[in-house]
Amino acid sequence: MKLRSVRSAKVHGRRVLVRAELNVADRAGRTADDVRIRAAVPTLRLLLARGARVIIVTHRGRPQGRVVQRLSTKPLARPLSRLLGVPVKTVNDCVGPIVERAVMRLANGQALLLENVRFHPGEERNDRRFSRQLAKLADLFVLEAFGTAHRAHAAVVGVGQWVPSFAGLRFIEEVRILSRVLHQPRRPLVFVIGGAKISSKLNLIERLLGRADGLLLGGALANTILQAQGLNIGQSLSEPKMVRAVRRLQLTKRQLHVPVDLVVRQANGRRAVRAVGDVGRRESILDIGPDTVTLFTTVLRRARTIIWNGPMGRYEEPPFDRGTRAVARAVARSRAYTVVGGGETVDAVRSQGLARAIDFISTGGGAMVEFLEGRRLPGVELVRELDDDQAND
Ligand code: 3PG
Repeated sequence: MKLRSVRSAKVHGRRVLVRAELNVADRAGRTADDVRIRAAVPTLRLLLARGARVIIVTHRGRPQGRVVQRLSTKPLARPLSRLLGVPVKTVNDCVGPIVERAVMRLANGQALLLENVRFHPGEERNDRRFSRQLAKLADLFVLEAFGTAHRAHAAVVGVGQWVPSFAGLRFIEEVRILSRVLHQPRRPLVFVIGGAKISSKLNLIERLLGRADGLLLGGALANTILQAQGLNIGQSLSEPKMVRAVRRLQLTKRQLHVPVDLVVRQANGRRAVRAVGDVGRRESILDIGPDTVTLFTTVLRRARTIIWNGPMGRYEEPPFDRGTRAVARAVARSRAYTVVGGGETVDAVRSQGLARAIDFISTGGGAMVEFLEGRRLPGVELVRELDDDQAND
């Protein structure tokens, strides 16, 4: 798949709107955030060095079309300035006369960071008027937000209706690497899929069952599988409505591995390890157990390509982060080519100082899942070069 690269754009003296993926948490100390800020830097540096007038736009969180001060983009200006080596100015909005004036004052090689684009309801609706207002700020659009490429929003695809659009350097890298591990992996190819909802990953699991040499499932999504197998899961989080759909999966395939033991919270609040099937009625499964960690580690040790998305339990609540952390260590220590994506997954790697041992840390969570599912992501389609067949249509 060929994407129109920002390298091929003529940018000197032109206003370039860069849609970055700076959706970083407001919780202090979440180390995954740094990955996203740094990911935007090569494209921004390239544009600044080539004398563009750079306007950066991003969303943060889900403010639902309202101004939520704690989700302002302002705190991002300082780390960006530090990484870019030029002061990044800020402005109180992302469209309108004040913003237009701030853009007019930008000299070549200077950068301006707009306010959270999701403070406007037009963003998520991909409102035509709103995307027109954004596009008015720029001569060119650069999509550098792979993590949001699965959203058909105004500042992802809408702006591209009005001005020529290009893919950022990191965006291209994400698509190239995820395509390669999916289509030309070194085998054994092992996926580790976790997270809360089986509904958001069922298509992916189905697709991977036909492709992977190993598929390791953990997190609350595995609870629904245990439930579909008729096992007691006590008070654990699950999606009973998905049980029928899960039963249609080939759960007996030998490459599929679900937990063999679990860590539960007992009714008295204490932590305990249970064999699968031994979970008490008043207990909640919050992590994979030590035997499951051993099983998963054994499969990971043999792998030559590993792709991991989603925590193995309630990662945000220690001690139920232990399974996820142990998997992070096994992935980092393996000799496979390793790709990791998703906020908590990346955090489990980085917070243990293992980032250097991972070959590629994706900026995508949901976008990575949808891409691996084989779906056409609206953002990718925007910056895709038409191949000959399509160009002739
Ligand atoms: C992410 O964090 O996965 C992206 O920034 C997309 O955010 P969203 O799920 O709120 O659209």
